[in-house]
Amino acid sequence: MNTVTATVSPVNSLLSALKKTVQHALFFNTVKEKKSVEAYDLWAKSYDVQPGNLMLDLDEEVFTQLLAETDITGKQVADIGCGTGRHWPKLFNNKPAGLTGFDVSAGMLRRLEQKFPNAKTNQITDNLFKDTGTATYDVIVSTLTVAHIENIDEALHAWSRILKYNGDIIITDFHPNALAFGGRRTFEHKHSSIAIQNFVHYVYDIESILFKHGFRIVNKLERKIDESVKHYYEAKNALPVYERFKDARIIYGIHLKRSHDIK
Ligand SMILES: C[S@@+](CC[C@H](N)C(=O)[O-])C[C@H]1O[C@@H](n2cnc3c(N)ncnc32)[C@H](O)[C@@H]1O
Repeated sequence: MNTVTATVSPVNSLLSALKKTVQHALFFNTVKEKKSVEAYDLWAKSYDVQPGNLMLDLDEEVFTQLLAETDITGKQVADIGCGTGRHWPKLFNNKPAGLTGFDVSAGMLRRLEQKFPNAKTNQITDNLFKDTGTATYDVIVSTLTVAHIENIDEALHAWSRILKYNGDIIITDFHPNALAFGGRRTFEHKHSSIAIQNFVHYVYDIESILFKHGFRIVNKLERKIDESVKHYYEAKNALPVYERFKDARIIYGIHLKRSHDIK
């Protein structure tokens, strides 16, 4: 009987193991995806210190514009996915009667409470808002959060319940087209890049759920990746990413209202 024995030197086997590890790191481990709670608990400490973060800067523009047309003075406002309260100074400037933050991440809420020691916050574990009464809030704002919510129908149903009849909702988020095209929300933690789990909810799906609950669109904004934001990509040596996503819609904002007044 002939047997063929392949002899493998220790050096070769070491090289081969090294190659496999590098390939695995390159193709599978470069960006680790985590669920929201774990990811934002890790991101919380550095979340507020992100100069040159395109999404935060575009969100600032879009949200500021939608907020300017919404009267929140003397109103009860809920911020769902409030995070570290990035928009809270602007919201407080408009003198709401109350502002309550809801979020799944204890780490993000802790940061918010350090900045606003008297803040009213709730850490939520589902989409149902069981502890919040029907028609509690006049205005719901939610920025850069909706795509993290898996069951958006269930969530928007609950948001409609806790909002007063003639209430307003302002939503901004990463544009679903960009997410569907492979865009990811990532951050750096301990020298590795972490992506956060997202779900693609098309804007027309969000609108049609809210239409069923009696809402109408007051305003809708979008921002594209174009020459005006090219410098963000240049600064990060990411021009290939710019070329890949050029002309794609990157962020949207909608203001909806439930009222008989709107045609
Ligand atoms: C990108 S951050 C946005 C934080 C803040 N709104 C802002 O604009 O800076 C997304 C936030 O949504 C929260 N989040 C994720 N899934 C959520 C859910 N199902 N319900 C409520 N908040 C959620 C995260 O913990 C995180 O704080």
